[in-house]
Amino acid sequence: MTVRTDGAGGIELTNVTKRFVTPTGAAMTAIRDINLTVKPGEFCAVVGPTGCGKSTTLTLAAGLERPTAGTVKVSGKQVDGITKGASFVFQTDALLPWKPVLDNVALGPLFKGMPKAEAKARAGEWLKTVGLAGFEAHYPHQLSGGMRKRVSLAAALINEPTMLLMDEPFSALDVQTRAIMSNELLNLWERQKPSVLFVTHDLEEAIFLADKVAVITAGPGTVKAVFEVDLPRPRGAMQEIRFTKRFLELHQLIWEALREEVEQTYSRESIASKTKGGRA
Ligand SMILES: Nc1ncnc2c1ncn2[C@@H]1O[C@H](COP(=O)(O)OP(=O)(O)OP(=O)(O)O)[C@@H](O)[C@H]1O
Ligand SMILES: [Mg+2]
Repeated sequence: MTVRTDGAGGIELTNVTKRFVTPTGAAMTAIRDINLTVKPGEFCAVVGPTGCGKSTTLTLAAGLERPTAGTVKVSGKQVDGITKGASFVFQTDALLPWKPVLDNVALGPLFKGMPKAEAKARAGEWLKTVGLAGFEAHYPHQLSGGMRKRVSLAAALINEPTMLLMDEPFSALDVQTRAIMSNELLNLWERQKPSVLFVTHDLEEAIFLADKVAVITAGPGTVKAVFEVDLPRPRGAMQEIRFTKRFLELHQLIWEALREEVEQTYSRESIASKTKGGRA
């Protein structure tokens, strides 16, 4: 496991419950009694069935929502307002379509008050780092999905976050691009060592990337189990490590825990759709 030395970015969720009011006025519990700690510089993957509250958990860590009960701390302080030092990468690219790639990446530092020339120079460096030198003047729609994802990573990491929140960031990519992006993410993470909460539906991706994998139960989600991933770092190529003995053992072990929750969610949805007269 890897640990930052400045103590920044650690995430502590203690007995966290979040309830929402639905459009019909009823209360619905999205997550219940979540206990999860991500140490400074640690990479935690979060897996669980659809609707179990993974995205909700990220919004709480980001300070975009408040818990109904329990406490959310980042860098040892209770979250109050938007969490400082946090960067996001979402499933869909959050890039501004009317701005060239360089300007998109420079946005974070510009918002923080960095002079324009310096922000652009730094954005240029980050584009080089993610393999996009020469594409500075392109607009997002002129890039492939994988390239746009690299821009999103550069735009997140240029802010030197102490906490990186990623919500299924690679799920729209094809399998090969996804493997490449996973390798690149690990290289970039090694340089800055932010704490990471990485939501994914792909268990292989979770094991390959993370120091530990948290399995969330069917909704309202709570932490079912946390598995330490004791594969050595650097992890090497995703395409090779996934066939090693330890990787396969971990996959089997975590899948056992996850499968029950996925099946429970599936059977609930199937009953709900039958009651509504829909397809099973
Ligand atoms: N703002 C909100 N208002 C009302 N209900 C909400 C709100 N946000 C989330 N929910 C509900 O909370 C539950 C958990 O949602 P969430 O998006 O966190 O799940 P998830 O685990 O990220 O699912 P997926 O894997 O499909 O992305 C869902 O039932 C959802 O409908
Ligand atoms: Mg989600």
